Amino acid sequence: MTKIISFISRKGGTGKTTNAINLATMLHSLGHSVRLIETDTNYTLSTLRKMELFKTGAKEDQLFSIVPSEDQVVADEIESYKKQRIDFIILDTAGKTTDVSIKKICVGSDLVLIPTSLSQNDLLVTYQTVEDLKPAIEINKNLKIVILPNRIHGSTRNKTIAGMLDQLDAYILENFVPSKNLFTQSSTILAEKEYLGITKEILTLF
Ligand SMILES: Nc1ncnc2c1ncn2[C@@H]1O[C@H](COP(=O)(O)OP(=O)(O)O)[C@@H](O)[C@H]1O
Ligand SMILES: [Mg+2]
Repeated sequence: MTKIISFISRKGGTGKTTNAINLATMLHSLGHSVRLIETDTNYTLSTLRKMELFKTGAKEDQLFSIVPSEDQVVADEIESYKKQRIDFIILDTAGKTTDVSIKKICVGSDLVLIPTSLSQNDLLVTYQTVEDLKPAIEINKNLKIVILPNRIHGSTRNKTIAGMLDQLDAYILENFVPSKNLFTQSSTILAEKEYLGITKEILTLF
């Protein structure tokens, strides 16, 4: 059955889109079939894909698909996604998703990833996001809510990261995404090898 991985947070700029595309390209490069659905109506990833196809001449049929949609449409259709012949659907949502849509999306997901930096603002929003998802866990008991530490500065120790996130009532990934320029220049075609560790850890959660 198709696994649905949704990137959720109550705030823009936490790294949903960056991590969604890096996870999608890495899963694809590991041989999994993937579809990425983006509901942020800026449709940055669909646009980036078009630009990359134009620039590189890559063949679209050898890549995973990137599909623009809307939160409400996805929320209503998510149950039907599980019957598709595809290993993973990755859902990149927008920070402005309504409570009703977030709940429906989470009820239909297998895994929810919440990227967060260690800034106070991000941590407060992440805390609230985790609390807001609790009603969805009551309906979908298999739902895993996972914190993805993102934009972590090079010198930050694992113990410091764990300490700053330990108030969150969710699974915290041991791997984290460093703050690096290479993550500001994502590709929809080529996987970033620094994302392998995170991807492998995410795969162990299924
Ligand atoms: N690990 C990272 N290292 C460096 N820059 C990052 C990282 N993650 C995100 N960014 C940058 O932060 C900004 C917001 O990230 P984005 O993924 O668009 O967030 P969201 O989709 O949650 O709004 C973008 O400019 C992106 O390039
Ligand atoms: Mg985004």
